[in-house]
Amino acid sequence: MVALDGDYFRALETPRMAALAPNLIAAAFPLMKLMPARYILDRAVADGAFEARMRIVETTSGTFGMALALLSAARGYRLTLVSASSLVDAKYKARLDGLGAQMIITEDHAGDGDQLARLQRLDDIRRAEPNCFWPRQYDNPGNALAYARLAEQLVQTVGEIDCLVGCVGSGGSLCGTAMFLRAVFPHLIVIAVDTHRSILFGQPAGKRLLRGLGNSILPGNLRHDLIDEVHWVGGYPAFSEARRLLREHGIFQGPTSAAAALVGRWAASTRPGARIAVIMPDEGHRYAETVFDDAWLGALPGWPCSPPSEPREVTIVESGSEADWMRFIWARRSLDRIVDDEVKNEGRFR
Ligand SMILES: Cc1ncc(COP(=O)(O)O)c(C=O)c1O
Repeated sequence: MVALDGDYFRALETPRMAALAPNLIAAAFPLMKLMPARYILDRAVADGAFEARMRIVETTSGTFGMALALLSAARGYRLTLVSASSLVDAKYKARLDGLGAQMIITEDHAGDGDQLARLQRLDDIRRAEPNCFWPRQYDNPGNALAYARLAEQLVQTVGEIDCLVGCVGSGGSLCGTAMFLRAVFPHLIVIAVDTHRSILFGQPAGKRLLRGLGNSILPGNLRHDLIDEVHWVGGYPAFSEARRLLREHGIFQGPTSAAAALVGRWAASTRPGARIAVIMPDEGHRYAETVFDDAWLGALPGWPCSPPSEPREVTIVESGSEADWMRFIWARRSLDRIVDDEVKNEGRFR
């Protein structure tokens, strides 16, 4: 089958490059996840793993689901998305409904997105309809491989890059881009941006205010051995930075983009000789009634709070509050190695 959607969607998956400082470039995507979604589907068609008559199933509450829904509408695929009640707002659901995607929403009493319950539900669907295609963005290597294009775009724009900053949810965007960039720039420093109560870099799981990055399960696409330092950014500094980006740069991106920008700005000011690139995954429209709404923000306990100007350095992995921003030197270690080191140092894994 010939995909006819190429030109129409190309703009959504092409980043606009914005200089946030003399040594800091931001790759700001309208919808970054279109790139891995398209790559995974096209590879699956080419490999014979997916045919147009099969149903696509995936668990997502965010931009990967939206990307699959856009492609499915354009190509006539059937799509079922499993999401959690705490993560789906009415407008997002209405847009997916309009795109013809079937939504299954699991009850999520703890409010942490309950990824395990969603995967259980997805298993049930696959058992009832075995001939489904599951893109598996968390573990499918195609998710990371799709970012060869971003690495190429960054090199074309900046030339040599010394430091890459990006959020981690599935790990695809940061680890994929880092893998390609480090092949040409071996000295590349990779900075991962996570949030408190995400297990990706060893914090215990819990309810998170900042969504889209972070995870309650460990995805195969996260390669800890590529990561030099980790920053945990709480919801509050991310929301403040999203507003600042709009006010001072006219850049309307979502709060995960803002968390990455905050860390990128700090990295640019502390490493003035380095050329730094930051990945911004999506636009601000989905957050117009939350992060960009004064009443919504004003109702948050402890808001307003001025964002820290620099991260708090931590030497053991610990939980922070939504107002916190913490930095930890990961040094390309495995998660197991961090746990071992912390046991030796009498940290939280004791
Ligand atoms: C808005 C947003 N930011 C960041 C991320 C994290 O990107 P990745 O899954 O490539 O690690 C996601 C992932 O879905 C996202 O939707």
